[in-house]
Amino acid sequence: MSEPEGNFAARLLTWFDQHGRSGLPWQHPRSAYRVWLSEIMLQQTQVVAVIPYFERFVTRFPDIATLAAADSDEVMRHWAGLGYYARARNLHAAARQVMAQHEGHFPAGFEQIIALKGIGRSTAGAILAQAFGTPAAILDGNVKRVLTRWAGIEGHPAESLVNAQLWTLAERLLPDKRAADYVQAQMDLGATLCTARKPACARCPLSTDCVAHATGRSSQLPTKKARRERPHREAWLILAEDGEGRVLLEQRPGSGIWGGLWCPPVIALGEDHAQLLRSRFGVALLGEEGGEAIEHGFTHFDLSLHPLRGRASLLAQTLAETPPVAWHPPQALRDGRVAVPAPVARYFERVAAAADLLGGHHVASVRRRSRRRISKGNA
Ligand code: ADE
Repeated sequence: MSEPEGNFAARLLTWFDQHGRSGLPWQHPRSAYRVWLSEIMLQQTQVVAVIPYFERFVTRFPDIATLAAADSDEVMRHWAGLGYYARARNLHAAARQVMAQHEGHFPAGFEQIIALKGIGRSTAGAILAQAFGTPAAILDGNVKRVLTRWAGIEGHPAESLVNAQLWTLAERLLPDKRAADYVQAQMDLGATLCTARKPACARCPLSTDCVAHATGRSSQLPTKKARRERPHREAWLILAEDGEGRVLLEQRPGSGIWGGLWCPPVIALGEDHAQLLRSRFGVALLGEEGGEAIEHGFTHFDLSLHPLRGRASLLAQTLAETPPVAWHPPQALRDGRVAVPAPVARYFERVAAAADLLGGHHVASVRRRSRRRISKGNA
């Protein structure tokens, strides 16, 4: 590597002092618990989306002991809407690990941190540096983008050789001081200047010796994966009511989409849904559609959920008294009392708003409007 490598970190830190983010809620106060929580929330999620969730979460669970002692439903409820729910389940399990193995003190060693559930090498490094000031390399999507461009590294970053090369470079560039600021500086440069599209090279402190900039390859690096068609799945969302207007919900299995959240039954198109509903829940179908489809994009596929109304028999109400099945008034699905997937909560909000407009009429009176996407994201 050429000579200027020596001041890579120094230039980044000087830029950070003027342009970096230093008022983030997890930086004040900067405890290991708050840093850890923020790093988990920030995986695949942007800072602006995380801030309100972070604030609510630490208000309800101010320390590791409180989180470890909490009921998992309540933890999921505070995560509902952020997406990637395995993160919340792992966080909760890791809080219990810290109580059992470290007497409630978040560990300060890399090996102990990476042994906690839900923490990989980059997150462990980010926690170590920010919570304890120990210099440690990180390599999330932002940093991969900065380093592949700056050093002109070809090949998809998930390939093991490319990945190893990036880690080696990240370690070599580490400064021995200002470990926490250096982590944030890398994140901030990737999020604000060295962006995936239209990087702002004219303002970048690294552009003078950036290989991608010099060779006009910023838009080709990092190397993209060969594109595959995104699958599209379709399913019924069964809106079954009991005599009191409450809606049938089931808790989704821990693995798979919306794991651990409460949701009206989802049955794939093509399955014998009428029979399944009768046998599993004692629910009879009314056969009425409940408005336009809920469209949602997950990481690996798109999902269309078609609302379908059902009516529950007495048998259903008895069957559904014990978890993982429950009845809740629609209001509870909208106001955060129950951890429901965000697109489903939005659907109930929309139905309620339409019912208000129509003078209190029910789900069925929601007119079919033009089909439009009502959500797109990871929630
Ligand atoms: N992504 C992961 N950690 C982050 C951080 N500390 N700031 C911004 N984005 C991040």
